[in-house]
Amino acid sequence: MAQFIRYTEHGGPEVLTPVEGPVPDPPEGGVVVEVRAAGVNPVDSKIRSGRRGTRDFSRPQGLGADAAGVVVAVADGVDGVRPGDEVIVHGASGAYASHVVATPDQLVPKPAELSFEQGAALGIPAGTAYQVLRSLGLREGETLLLHAGSGGVGQAAIQFARTFGARVVATASPANHDRLRELGAVPVAYGPGLVDRLREAAPDGYDVALDGAGTDEAIEASLELVPDRDRVATIVRMADAADLGIRTWSGAIPSTMGPEEVRLRAEGVAEAARLAAEGRFEVEISGRYPLAEAADAQRESEDGHVRGKLVLVP
Ligand SMILES: NC(=O)c1ccc[n+]([C@@H]2O[C@H](COP(=O)([O-])OP(=O)(O)OC[C@H]3O[C@@H](n4cnc5c(N)ncnc54)[C@H](OP(=O)(O)O)[C@@H]3O)[C@@H](O)[C@H]2O)c1
Repeated sequence: MAQFIRYTEHGGPEVLTPVEGPVPDPPEGGVVVEVRAAGVNPVDSKIRSGRRGTRDFSRPQGLGADAAGVVVAVADGVDGVRPGDEVIVHGASGAYASHVVATPDQLVPKPAELSFEQGAALGIPAGTAYQVLRSLGLREGETLLLHAGSGGVGQAAIQFARTFGARVVATASPANHDRLRELGAVPVAYGPGLVDRLREAAPDGYDVALDGAGTDEAIEASLELVPDRDRVATIVRMADAADLGIRTWSGAIPSTMGPEEVRLRAEGVAEAARLAAEGRFEVEISGRYPLAEAADAQRESEDGHVRGKLVLVP
């Protein structure tokens, strides 16, 4: 039997229920992956609560886009993937499960250097960080202002920016400043006086800003410190971006990404895996929950202070 986390109505974490069912068959053109770990992303809670995406509740809904595991079944005619392959899964549907269905373009080979938990942590965070920084054109020698540097997206963004040759000044609570330094960023505490501290941290100014916090403070500091609004993005305040004249992208329904951004998100996952295999990209797992305790994992995520990633373990 397989296990799945399902919900039948929008609501708090308590609507998430573990259920059992048969192991799925691979659909035409697809594979089935036995999940060893699934990534918990803030968007999962937003979808569950009804704040993002729409759901057809004529049948129970699954949750979760990211996982890592072992391929156990492959549909006829699918080339390049075999049972036994260890893979990272991104952009899937229903990854909070013991088994998830995916298409080959949602798979990246898992390097031996990464654990399954670390592999499960890459999808949305690495894909988003890479896509946004590439879409904003961050280049060698430039300075990035990054809000929420210690979360999943933030840690990935620092590391990609450093590989691009950029400097990074990132906000986090003081308890996480050592972690930001380890990753190569200059840490700055958010809160009153933020703009002054940011000016001091980068006296020559900022070229690009990425808001992963969604606070007024983060948006206002970005607008004040980055001269070109075309190089300021929020991945949280999607609805405000057009009025502010800044950039935004969303991977959740309704997606606001064009084909190039979709391509960059997939490339970001593969690139993070490649760099990790070379020891140039770290993935911090700060908490793991049994699959059946997905509701507790989402409660911790919703507190808004996850460092690195939370994962579910079937
Ligand atoms: N648009 C998209 O396609 C897209 C894709 C991915 C993520 N997102 C969104 O981006 C946000 C970040 O995602 P994530 O996966 O990185 O979340 P996460 O892993 O849960 O990280 C949250 C981080 O926010 C920091 N934080 C909390 N309050 C803050 C504040 N006032 N100022 C600055 N930082 C603060 C926390 O750091 P401290 O503990 O140090 O306070 C924590 O490390 C979420 O809202 C998520 O839904 C959007």
